[in-house]
Amino acid sequence: MNASKGLASRAVSVSPSITRVLANAAMDVDGLIPLWFGEPNQPTPQFICDEAARSLSAGETFYAEGLGRPYLREAIAGYMSDLYGKSIGKDRIAVTVSGGNALNLAFQALLEQGDKVVTLTPAFPNLLAIPSLQGANVVPHKLQIKDDQWHLDCDAFLETAKGAKVVLINSPSNPTGYMMPREDMQKIMSVLRERGTWLISDEVYARTVYDDKVAPSFLDVSEAEDRLIVINSFSKSWAMTGWRLGWLTLPPSITPIIEKIAEFSVACAPPFAQRAGVVALQDGEDFIRQTAQSYKAARDQVCSALLSHELVSCPVPDSAFYAFFKIDGVDDSIAFARTLIDKAKVGLAPGDAFLVGEPGWFRLCFAQTEQQLSDALTRLSPFLEDPEKAQ
Ligand SMILES: Cc1ncc(COP(=O)(O)O)c(C=O)c1O
Repeated sequence: MNASKGLASRAVSVSPSITRVLANAAMDVDGLIPLWFGEPNQPTPQFICDEAARSLSAGETFYAEGLGRPYLREAIAGYMSDLYGKSIGKDRIAVTVSGGNALNLAFQALLEQGDKVVTLTPAFPNLLAIPSLQGANVVPHKLQIKDDQWHLDCDAFLETAKGAKVVLINSPSNPTGYMMPREDMQKIMSVLRERGTWLISDEVYARTVYDDKVAPSFLDVSEAEDRLIVINSFSKSWAMTGWRLGWLTLPPSITPIIEKIAEFSVACAPPFAQRAGVVALQDGEDFIRQTAQSYKAARDQVCSALLSHELVSCPVPDSAFYAFFKIDGVDDSIAFARTLIDKAKVGLAPGDAFLVGEPGWFRLCFAQTEQQLSDALTRLSPFLEDPEKAQ
């Protein structure tokens, strides 16, 4: 008997992560510079690690509350209230085991089989896969490029969003760095409020902005009981990708539902990681400021090198840590990325992974040292100059 015959069709049909497949195949390539994954190259700051070690030594190794330890929920509520200049109560906060887990819980709480979910593309692939795996009909709406910047026509988007149960917006965006202006948030929020549509706002890059303290947020333009769920994570801002810690900001009436369903998946976030989360929030501002400055310098280094090639176009981002660029003349991005692994020894994520809808696009994560980036750009240069070399 073939065991795989009896599997759920959603699980079988969901596309695997293209980037993961490429990266796995390149595991043994000696000297490869991997710029395909979305994570900072530096380890978690020592003061955060020390707090987790202290917690472990103190025996904090037991199950914790489903919504998170009260002291972390309190710390997150205080951090969010300060950041957005409005009172956000602890009753609105649920600690999760990563931003990814937060997205899963939010969709689990909202979706019925066949519900329409509308989201923006190019997108982080998990944003399409998570609702699809939960039985939703996911409808992508493509951002456009206007004056060399990613741009959303709000009216067209709201037209696509008609009949949706959930609208999912990721701003600042992975992979484009698109940051939705506050006025557009205001407009979208008020139309969705009128329609009774849910909005899930993925704001895991809220602090990865170069010229401000924080990106515009749907929390700026909403009330506590609006149908809005905001996703946050410790992964990017505090270089804690491996810790698996995030949180949801919810309408208070939804918090008990999240508590109930969290119990049936991961039960709780590790208590020592939660202790570390508190010090990250309280003492992490210098780290956030310094890394934002270094990402800005890396952005300048990478974008100016890419744009020096005639065939390359690249909207220059003000947030997140990705250059999402197009090489004219490349008609198969996945094959091209494979050749770059072999010939240039640089790992890039092909645009197909983000549903960009046309060939020639690539994502490069520049949360790396200047030297790594400089080496990678030197190696890429001949292929950017003449893509035929790789085909
Ligand atoms: C837009 C976006 N949302 C959510 C996540 C998930 O982050 P994590 O699960 O590490 O918290 C990522 C990670 O790359 C992301 O880019």
